Amino acid sequence: MRAKLVVGNWKMNGNLVQNQELLTAIIPGSEGLRDIICAVCVPYPYLPAVQLALKDTHIFWGAQNVSQFDLGAYTGEVAVEMLLDFDCRYVIVGHSERRSLFGEDNHTVAEKFKKAQSAGLIPILCVGETLAQREIGETERVIEEQLDAVIKLTGANSLTQSVIAYEPVWAIGTGRTATPAQAQSVHAFIRSKIAKQNTEVAANVQILYGGSVKAGNASDLFAMPDIDGGLIGGASLNANEFISICSAAQ
Ligand code: G3H
Repeated sequence: MRAKLVVGNWKMNGNLVQNQELLTAIIPGSEGLRDIICAVCVPYPYLPAVQLALKDTHIFWGAQNVSQFDLGAYTGEVAVEMLLDFDCRYVIVGHSERRSLFGEDNHTVAEKFKKAQSAGLIPILCVGETLAQREIGETERVIEEQLDAVIKLTGANSLTQSVIAYEPVWAIGTGRTATPAQAQSVHAFIRSKIAKQNTEVAANVQILYGGSVKAGNASDLFAMPDIDGGLIGGASLNANEFISICSAAQ
């Protein structure tokens, strides 16, 4: 049985004061949650403060990106060891904003996935198609290529210790959510693709949906058989919304 997982992706938002206020409001709300895992992925500079605020709570934390390289002369990069210094559990890799705005291709994302996993972090691998790709019927091909890059580098078994997030690019930050049926169809495709290589891994891997998830649509999405929770952007910056979404996963 897969546990439901809800991860807030703060993206490049917040400051020390706002973050503390947000967490102070989220922590009590999270205490009543049962049988679900909650986490927040925050900007690097706030990891120490978030670690301090969350260390005795049920909420996990992580980062939004990581370098594929070992420690060394890589100005501006952050290594997996640095995330471990702050007890991160999760790290997002291959978010569509990293792919489209910062030129991360499938191979780079796969390298980041491998590096994170080999350090003991749980990578949250984001996959998803653009609107143009969906409209010409390319959704499954695009997602297959994104998954194949990781499977080729690490093997399908590695997906056991990871999370996959299906995030249709056209639904991110747009207020336009995939319908539960649209999302379920892609989630089922992802699971069946993994099952061709290893049925046990496919049965156990958590596949999250991301893209304009809100308190009002979370229950219907999370009720789908292959949707194991959500990767939440904008709504994770509002404590009531985020806790409502987490509650919808129960
Ligand atoms: O990582 C989160 C996704 O990009 C979804 O963002 O909930 O603001 O649409 P959103």
